[in-house]
Amino acid sequence: MIQRTVVFIVGMALLISCGTGKKNEMSKQSDSVEILDPHTFAKPHEVKVTHLDWKARVDFDQKVIEATATWTVEKSKKADSLILDAQGLEIQEVLLNGNESAKYYRGEEDVHLGSSMVIFINEDTRKVSVTYTTGRDAAALQWLAPEQTAGKEHPFLFTQSQAILARTWIPCQDSPGIRFTYNAEVEVPAGLMALMSASNPKEVSTAGKYTFQMEQPVPAYLMALAVGEMSFQSIGEVTGVYSEPSMLNKSVYEFANMDSMLHAAERLYGDYRWGRYDVLVLPPSFPFGGMENPRLTFATPTILAGDRSLTSLIAHELAHSWSGNLVTNQSWNDFWLNEGFTVYFERRIMESLYGETYANMLDVLGMEDLKKDMKSLDPKDTRLKLELEGRNPDEGMNNVAYEKGNFFLKTIENFYGREAFDEFVTQYFDTFAFKSVNTELFLEYLDSNLLKTDTVKREKLRVNEWVYSPGLPDNCVKVKSRRLQRVESSLKAWEDGILDIDELKTDDWSSHEWIYFLRKLSTDLSVNELSELDRTFGFTRSQNTEILAAWFIHTIRADYEPAHEPLESFLVSVGRRKFLVPLYGALTKTEKGKDKAKRIYEKARPNYHSVSRNTIDDMLNS
Ligand code: BES
Ligand code: ZN
Repeated sequence: MIQRTVVFIVGMALLISCGTGKKNEMSKQSDSVEILDPHTFAKPHEVKVTHLDWKARVDFDQKVIEATATWTVEKSKKADSLILDAQGLEIQEVLLNGNESAKYYRGEEDVHLGSSMVIFINEDTRKVSVTYTTGRDAAALQWLAPEQTAGKEHPFLFTQSQAILARTWIPCQDSPGIRFTYNAEVEVPAGLMALMSASNPKEVSTAGKYTFQMEQPVPAYLMALAVGEMSFQSIGEVTGVYSEPSMLNKSVYEFANMDSMLHAAERLYGDYRWGRYDVLVLPPSFPFGGMENPRLTFATPTILAGDRSLTSLIAHELAHSWSGNLVTNQSWNDFWLNEGFTVYFERRIMESLYGETYANMLDVLGMEDLKKDMKSLDPKDTRLKLELEGRNPDEGMNNVAYEKGNFFLKTIENFYGREAFDEFVTQYFDTFAFKSVNTELFLEYLDSNLLKTDTVKREKLRVNEWVYSPGLPDNCVKVKSRRLQRVESSLKAWEDGILDIDELKTDDWSSHEWIYFLRKLSTDLSVNELSELDRTFGFTRSQNTEILAAWFIHTIRADYEPAHEPLESFLVSVGRRKFLVPLYGALTKTEKGKDKAKRIYEKARPNYHSVSRNTIDDMLNS
């Protein structure tokens, strides 16, 4: 207890004194700390929001949300305006304290940031209400026609707010360093269910009216809404799954281990602070694998492999309930604090459930992903601390934040021992719970609470090189996977003609072994050799999207005919960007492939969310 208190005091002192951090990430104000986030117009040290009451009607005919966002505000003495971020919103009215019409103006439009909304407020202003309609192509929203759902009968809507898309559906202070609680009343067409990153219904409301509460303060990027035909089934006491009815059984089977994951996570780094933990399985156009919306992870259906082999993604999103949702990166330049910690934590959960050999496979695959990204990225983007000012924060979403972040933490663990490291991480989550942290503050905290205990090790760790220099430091822990080494020897035996393809022992291979096998497979196999592999292992017919996507890289290169149609239908139905980028990338390597990519994309584009569309538009137009 005494130790906890000391850590807490040190933490608070750091919070107040972090003007000593790098550059002017934070500067001191008279009585509060100014948070500098290059991706918001908000000035929270003048006026900041603390609570949102959101009343909304979801209109599937017009594909808009009509809403009133009433913000409770807290202001410093001199301030006379509340600044919100907004993008593409049509504003109808702004009221102060519910009755007085307010003067406001819109700032200049920026391609990435949208524009500011500056609302003049008075001495006695406590509430500011904005009535508005979302734009027709609000980037956070994906409106699906019935044909784009599994049930084919009802339309579907989901949001994706991270990193800075919340402002396209709610006028808000859209910065990860600004937190608020929220209540919502949402009206949807009768028969449909509405879910948010909050307390959620388990049954459909016949009137189509739902209320939500999020009692813990969250940043705007964690605001989420989904509307469609959905049902719920519980897994454990506080865990469960939502999905379209026809996907529910499959989802429940796949995620049966969610409760064990939650308990493993709590054993590692302390209490789960959000009440329930449910997962919503979305239609396949969801652009990411998963999104850690608090209390309700949004997930792609492409992890429903039928054998529970791709559930590390659930461990990942669950881990964000600590790293990211509880302790949040202060700006997107500190994204590695969210994702690096989460990858590290995800692997620890998987290790608790399935042992070290399983976690090692994930680390080895992660290291390969990292090395690949390191080769193609501009060196300055291979530093953990990013400089994303003036850019789309999406550019920071690569394996540097995820895997270099993970390997930095693993290396610290390796230097100082697991016990000390785990105690440090638990205290870190406790000290900064419901707060945001930037890289400099984290490093000061790390130094005072762990590294200082052994200054010789501290010297050897070279923290600044890890964080502020490009590339991967040579003191990085080495990871090996026995299971993946076995895959490599099998492959070699086949390639050297020592074993026939059907003599390979693959019975106990998980998805990860197959992914590794396909990645290591020579890139100049003939059509005949691909046929032989396909006949033996049935890759083209695989129900596992990870395996399928890795296989298509080979079939595209060799122009392997039997995979043409399956590839096309995969690209048309799946909108997960992680799969689309390498597949379109492989197609565009030849002129013939480029034409094909363009033809398929024309058909597929309406099924993709704006984040995937933006990426693939850029790829095919350059
Ligand atoms: N928070 C991310 C998704 C994200 C990051 C969305 C940045 C928008 C901007 C989520 O937790 C994530 O990392 N998802 C990964 C899966 C994970 C297992 C690596 C994904 O979607 O691929
Ligand atoms: Zn993540």
